[in-house]
Amino acid sequence: MTNLEPFSIGPIAIQPPLVMAPLHEITDQPFRRMIRQVGGVGLTVSEMISSEALIRHARKAQAMMAGEGERPFSMQLSGSIPEHLAEAARMVEAAGADLVDLNMGCPASNVTSGGAGSALLKDIRLAETCVKAMVRAVGVPVTVKMRAGWDNSQKERADYLDFLRMFEAAGIQALAIHPRTRAQQYTGSADWALIARAVDAGVAFPIIGNGDVNTPDDARRMFRETGCAGVMIGRAALTNPWIFRQILDPGLEVTERQRIELCMSFFRMLQELLEPREALHKMKKIGAWFTKGIPNGSGFRQNLHACEDPELLFAMLERLKEPGV
Ligand SMILES: Cc1cc2nc3c(=O)[nH]c(=O)nc-3n(C[C@H](O)[C@H](O)[C@H](O)COP(=O)(O)O)c2cc1C
Repeated sequence: MTNLEPFSIGPIAIQPPLVMAPLHEITDQPFRRMIRQVGGVGLTVSEMISSEALIRHARKAQAMMAGEGERPFSMQLSGSIPEHLAEAARMVEAAGADLVDLNMGCPASNVTSGGAGSALLKDIRLAETCVKAMVRAVGVPVTVKMRAGWDNSQKERADYLDFLRMFEAAGIQALAIHPRTRAQQYTGSADWALIARAVDAGVAFPIIGNGDVNTPDDARRMFRETGCAGVMIGRAALTNPWIFRQILDPGLEVTERQRIELCMSFFRMLQELLEPREALHKMKKIGAWFTKGIPNGSGFRQNLHACEDPELLFAMLERLKEPGV
């Protein structure tokens, strides 16, 4: 077993120092429950929720809250109106979140057109007002998840270091960095040197590195090369939910059969917890990720889109378990 040091976000210990990244329309309560059951994760984060939507539909906060035993748990907000972010932060704190996170990374134009997500990286004064309003509004720690900048010129000017100082003065208690620019979306690669520079800046809060950790070895390399306090993993956990445990225990092997069986038990959980249509929609979406790299997974994925019967989907997964199909 590798002994990775825990770290703290304010009074909250993150142990092990491994974080399941927020993934819109994926890291809902059932998904996070599955990830926690597999184990090795020190912190889970909700999907991003717009502060405006939350204020309009207060019940959403409750619906998006932590599942049983899911602690510590962070809720991620998006928005660019400081008073609304403050109000939304109060709502998620009241609903029981241990941490409140502000999204400064989302590249989607429906988010950035309103000045939220990664668009906040273009306006450090507005970003500061948003963060300060949230920090003032709640007693739980406020954290931020950011990209490397809006575009390459902003990255080359190292504007993110100005953001780091601003965050420190504003009182955030942890920062996750996904070192791609907004212009890159998900192309190219995450520039881990930026995470190392952020750590070297010596700010008062822990830095969580994120981006392109595809294997347990990548995670250990990110800790080693950047000095980050924690590692956050997104897409790789969708194809291998055991990745967190494998970082802690390099000898842990998982068979394809185990992967398919986990997928099936997760889908049964979706059926129990969600409306049938929503459950099927999620199964198709997540089934495509889960079966990556499995022999004949591509045939499964081709049939997945048209599948309207969940039991047929289970039968397709059952067939995937048979060698040589
Ligand atoms: C489908 C999808 C949905 C995402 N949703 C969010 C989100 O709601 N909030 C957020 O901060 N980042 C979101 N991200 C970005 C991830 O949290 C993460 O920063 C990015 O995928 C890089 O990490 P990875 O290489 O480990 O996947 C999303 C990424 C993907 C692929």
